[in-house]
Amino acid sequence: MKILLTGANGQVGHSLNQKLSPLFKVFALTHENFDLTNVIEMEKIIDDIKPNLIINPAAYTFVDQAEKDPELVFKINFKAPEFLALKSKNLNIPLIHFSTDYIFDGLKNKAYCEDDQANPKSIYGKSKHDGDVSIVKNNPNHIIIRTSWVYSLKGKNFLTTILNMAKVQNSFSIVSDQIGAPTSATHIANIVCEIVKKIDEIKKNNLYGVYNLTNSGKASWYDFAKAIVNNANELQLKIKCMPKDINPIKTDDFSALAFRPKNSLLNNQKIMRIFGIKSPSWQNELKSVMNGIVLDRKNDN
Ligand SMILES: NC(=O)c1ccc[n+]([C@@H]2O[C@H](COP(=O)([O-])OP(=O)(O)OC[C@H]3O[C@@H](n4cnc5c(N)ncnc54)[C@H](OP(=O)(O)O)[C@@H]3O)[C@@H](O)[C@H]2O)c1
Repeated sequence: MKILLTGANGQVGHSLNQKLSPLFKVFALTHENFDLTNVIEMEKIIDDIKPNLIINPAAYTFVDQAEKDPELVFKINFKAPEFLALKSKNLNIPLIHFSTDYIFDGLKNKAYCEDDQANPKSIYGKSKHDGDVSIVKNNPNHIIIRTSWVYSLKGKNFLTTILNMAKVQNSFSIVSDQIGAPTSATHIANIVCEIVKKIDEIKKNNLYGVYNLTNSGKASWYDFAKAIVNNANELQLKIKCMPKDINPIKTDDFSALAFRPKNSLLNNQKIMRIFGIKSPSWQNELKSVMNGIVLDRKNDN
């Protein structure tokens, strides 16, 4: 099977490439060589490669910056997925895409299910929601993985930000009234790889659709930050603070350009039931990802 993978330098794209490349012929394309704003080029590349499957983790993901540049954000998060859906439908191949908790307003008092009413409150959330809707409309053979609070050891994300802050600051404040499920890019890649292996069964039994996928359990950003600092201390990383040095603050006390949902929890029952998937707790997953820092160091020496 030939897979065209976009955004191969992103958190999820990179993890997917690592996981899928030993098993399939993966064309791992980065922003540089597959630009989602250039439809003519994208079409040429897809026609050259002739993939059996397209996986699109590339997206505009700077949530605050998105408020200032809606035109570019909608081009990348709505028009490009719309094109990929039309093109993959035309080639009669499936499309795997990624969605976000930001399509919800966060007012539900339970975890969101796949078909709950979307009500995005930010440019990023609106653009991603339009992307989801256009894929559902234009290629019935889609898998949309909706996830939240993605982190990895690569790039700029909550884990790397907290580690960098803890290296130089004795204390800091983190929002405690938004809840969600921290989810590692590795976990997403592991599960998507299982789904790719089952693509024939998915076709045969028409298991296409939207699937929530996060690590299990729930946390506030404050809980997540404390766990990162706790693990960093256990791993004897050089940091300047302890979990007790992190102060909880309210969303209203933290100035951010974009709206963030207070409740980002996604109900994982559907993916567990249909694909028999088990999600490790976010705490165990975080420990296992952070153990990678020490392993990387040992390999470097
Ligand atoms: N991060 C989260 O917390 C989170 C939460 C829920 C859902 N999601 C969704 O999960 C998916 C993967 O997210 P992620 O965390 O892996 O994002 P990421 O690390 O920000 O990676 C996104 C990738 O997209 C690329 N990209 C940006 N503009 C592009 C363009 N015009 N053409 C081609 N590539 C472009 C970026 O390349 P450059 O860096 O070179 O620009 C980057 O490699 C996305 O669909 C995102 O919306 C993420």
